[in-house]
Amino acid sequence: MQDKKVLYINACVRSDSRTDRIARALLARLGGIPEEVRLAEAGLQPLSEERLNRRTRLIEQEDYSDPMFDPARQFQAADEIVVAAPYWDLSFPAILKLYLENIYVTGLVSEYTEEGMPRGLCRARKLWYVTTAGGPYVPDFSYGYLRTLAKDYFGIPETALIHAEMLDVEGFDAEALVDAKIAEIQRL
Ligand SMILES: Cc1cc2nc3c(=O)[nH]c(=O)nc-3n(C[C@H](O)[C@H](O)[C@H](O)COP(=O)(O)O)c2cc1C
Repeated sequence: MQDKKVLYINACVRSDSRTDRIARALLARLGGIPEEVRLAEAGLQPLSEERLNRRTRLIEQEDYSDPMFDPARQFQAADEIVVAAPYWDLSFPAILKLYLENIYVTGLVSEYTEEGMPRGLCRARKLWYVTTAGGPYVPDFSYGYLRTLAKDYFGIPETALIHAEMLDVEGFDAEALVDAKIAEIQRL
């Protein structure tokens, strides 16, 4: 698919982020038309009681025209998704959770069957998760969480993890580890 829409969800915080560098190598490899959402600049709002009530009312009315639903609509329509986030506190930066809270809109990215089971509505067939860790990487609360959301709730059947670890540990050559990961991606 030459003109596939690749959504790049960039949750990297540091301007010289190594996670972002690896993610950009992946985007180049994937081709298509990347569309980047820099979460730090996306102006995302947490769900206050007022916003939550308004959102619930609009969802009940099946009215998704409010700009608060724009991120969810964009996520739903992407052909392929790349999420990049550094490994922070066994997980990822809070801005990514805020993004997930914003895009997880019943009726747009997910719905419930009559039996109460979630059914995904997203178009994407694959979600990539890119991360780097200062020490050893344990995927449970970052990639593991995203993978469950993608497969069981958003209807995205395939997920993949790309990670580099031990980048902040003395005796490990961070630059060489990142370069090796990028070379690996270029061979995909
Ligand atoms: C706030 C914060 C929390 C971190 N928590 C962890 C952690 O729990 N485990 C770990 O191995 N590294 C941790 N690190 C180190 C980062 O995972 C590591 O430096 C990573 O490569 C940063 O990615 P970046 O270069 O894309 O910013 C943390 C770094 C920061 C700034």
